[in-house]
Amino acid sequence: MVELKPYEECYKESVRETCIITGPAAARDNKTVRAWLLASFCDYYIEQEPENCFVLADRNNEAMGYIICAENYKEFKKVYLKKYVKAARRQGGFYAGLRTAVAIIPLAFYAKKYPAHLHIDIRPYYQRQGWGRKLMDRLLDHLRQKKVKGLILIVGKSNKQAISFYKKYGFKEVSNFFGFVAMGVDLNDD
Ligand SMILES: CC(C)(COP(=O)(O)OP(=O)(O)OC[C@H]1O[C@@H](n2cnc3c(N)ncnc32)[C@H](O)[C@@H]1OP(=O)(O)O)[C@@H](O)C(=O)NCCC(=O)NCCS
Repeated sequence: MVELKPYEECYKESVRETCIITGPAAARDNKTVRAWLLASFCDYYIEQEPENCFVLADRNNEAMGYIICAENYKEFKKVYLKKYVKAARRQGGFYAGLRTAVAIIPLAFYAKKYPAHLHIDIRPYYQRQGWGRKLMDRLLDHLRQKKVKGLILIVGKSNKQAISFYKKYGFKEVSNFFGFVAMGVDLNDD
């Protein structure tokens, strides 16, 4: 059984582990892929914006899933480029750093309309039981309360299950490029 909780420091290692488990298989034993994955999709959010992160904690207080978010692209970009691209390069080499820098380019195009962006991942055992819905509801409520006007994400075109999940939440395709889809949702329309 898991429980939805606000992120805390004690979940850090299990969040990173969940990122690796749900990421590309190569991340498990390839240093470059692992460094890129953690720098691009995990570490910034839990270290810099823990208040915008929520986890599914199990009985051992380990995160079996999470939703993590950067609230404002401009602020995100400054710290991400300064700290996390460097960390990826240090840990995984030049190519990991380059990939980490490139990962955020598509977000820049839509930052005005959609200042916030998210990542969500749940370990396989807990998928398709409504936990993704609960995590998404929690983040959307949280961002609406903070008057954030829009939220965007990037998903692989072949990840049909995630695309169908996002559509259910009113995310619309805003762009389609090199095997990826950018999907956004307006918040605080009223
Ligand atoms: C995508 C993900 C976050 C969805 O979370 P989840 O807990 O599995 O989804 P839920 O059980 O809350 O499902 C909510 C709705 O999303 C849709 N959905 C979820 N999984 C689906 C699937 N495999 N196929 C089709 N629709 C799906 C359905 O509409 C579902 O509602 P329903 O069960 O009433 O039909 C989760 O499966 C996951 O972490 N997948 C692996 C990592 C990943 O792809 N992350 C996204 C990267 S961009």
